[in-house]
Amino acid sequence: MALLKILQYPDERLHTVAAKVPEVTDKIRTLVHNMAETMYAAPGVGLAATQVDVHQCVIVIDASDTHDLLHVLINPEITAAIGESDCEEGCLSVPGIFEKIRRAEQITVEALNFNGDPFILEAKGLLAVCIQHEMDHLIGKIFVEYLSQLKQTRVLRKLKKQQRSVM
Ligand code: NI
Repeated sequence: MALLKILQYPDERLHTVAAKVPEVTDKIRTLVHNMAETMYAAPGVGLAATQVDVHQCVIVIDASDTHDLLHVLINPEITAAIGESDCEEGCLSVPGIFEKIRRAEQITVEALNFNGDPFILEAKGLLAVCIQHEMDHLIGKIFVEYLSQLKQTRVLRKLKKQQRSVM
């Protein structure tokens, strides 16, 4: 197991569109292990492979209060979405920024699990938000890009200031 380096917005590589995983191999399982370790260590509630510069459709999420309910979604697809809700989101690639984003309230997702077996997940609340947020990473979209241009400029300015203060 190893901790992976998380790309920081506005790194252009975060805009890469991930490819479907053709087969869930041991290499993918190692990636999943390392992504989960990296997410828990951060700590965060979700991580997409895009964020660790691997451009394949792999997501790990743990939105539980107890941090012991890991969801692994490989090649996820949303097959149904109901309702709308506004939830404050953050992202390990955009540290210190929290913004309200509108998402579907409830979703149905089809994906492959750690063993490569297909499964269907009905999600609502924080889990549904996380899945939608992480799936956006796989198509190269960052949550702050839903904000107005003015707000995005402010976010970039704040991030630059933060980066200067740690250097
Ligand atoms: Ni994120």
